[in-house]
Amino acid sequence: MRQAVAVFGTIEHDIPFCHFPRHYLVLGAGPAGRESGVIRVAEETAGDWWEVEALYDLCFAPGRTALSSYRLRDGVPPVAELCLTARDAEGILAAAIRYWPIRIGEAEALLLGPVAVHPTRQGEGLGGLLIRNSLARAEALGVARVMLVGDAPYYARFGFSRLTGVEMPPPTNPDRVLGIELRPGAWAGITGAVTRARPD
Ligand SMILES: CC(C)(COP(=O)(O)OP(=O)(O)OC[C@H]1O[C@@H](n2cnc3c(N)ncnc32)[C@H](O)[C@@H]1OP(=O)(O)O)[C@@H](O)C(=O)NCCC(=O)NCCS
Repeated sequence: MRQAVAVFGTIEHDIPFCHFPRHYLVLGAGPAGRESGVIRVAEETAGDWWEVEALYDLCFAPGRTALSSYRLRDGVPPVAELCLTARDAEGILAAAIRYWPIRIGEAEALLLGPVAVHPTRQGEGLGGLLIRNSLARAEALGVARVMLVGDAPYYARFGFSRLTGVEMPPPTNPDRVLGIELRPGAWAGITGAVTRARPD
């Protein structure tokens, strides 16, 4: 039996529930018949930091912080309003997403990621929930452009496409450098190396 359930946000924000994937709003969609329909999306707090780090350690290959994309984050605070956690009804961390400011030449942009969903919760729509929710928040904040390094077949569904001429620090496969315009034409003419928002 399908039942609609609530998705709570601890931050007041004008994001209609229709942004969330319908298949997520189903009670009992999770493994082992566990109630998985109630998810609380909230801004990450300082107290969440290491729990989110542990989730990323679990979900990504060892040595993730050695990736060149992490050098863009060194010493730069993430965008607090867009770093979100998704917790179930028992408060267990199910998914998390973070964003960092970056630059391409003089242009400002945001780097989406890391985003990860606990292995026991993958495929339920939580990744999409956090990506759509955070992009809507970014648009409301006036962010013009967002990029990431990831699998095009996954991120295309959210509107990301390959960025030509935008170079992540090597070694990064150019096919995985993707962007989305939150303001029409925001990526037009933006080319060059991606650098830290606050260089040393
Ligand atoms: C990638 C990730 C965030 C997706 O979150 P999720 O909640 O599992 O995904 P969703 O439920 O929103 O979407 C599921 C759909 O995405 C597809 N999908 C998931 N990962 C994919 C990938 N890497 N490439 C292509 N498609 C992918 C699934 O096949 C599924 O397709 P369907 O809707 O046609 O059935 C999650 O699987 C994860 O944390 N993976 C490990 C960490 C990681 O790789 N993070 C992303 C770094 S780029």
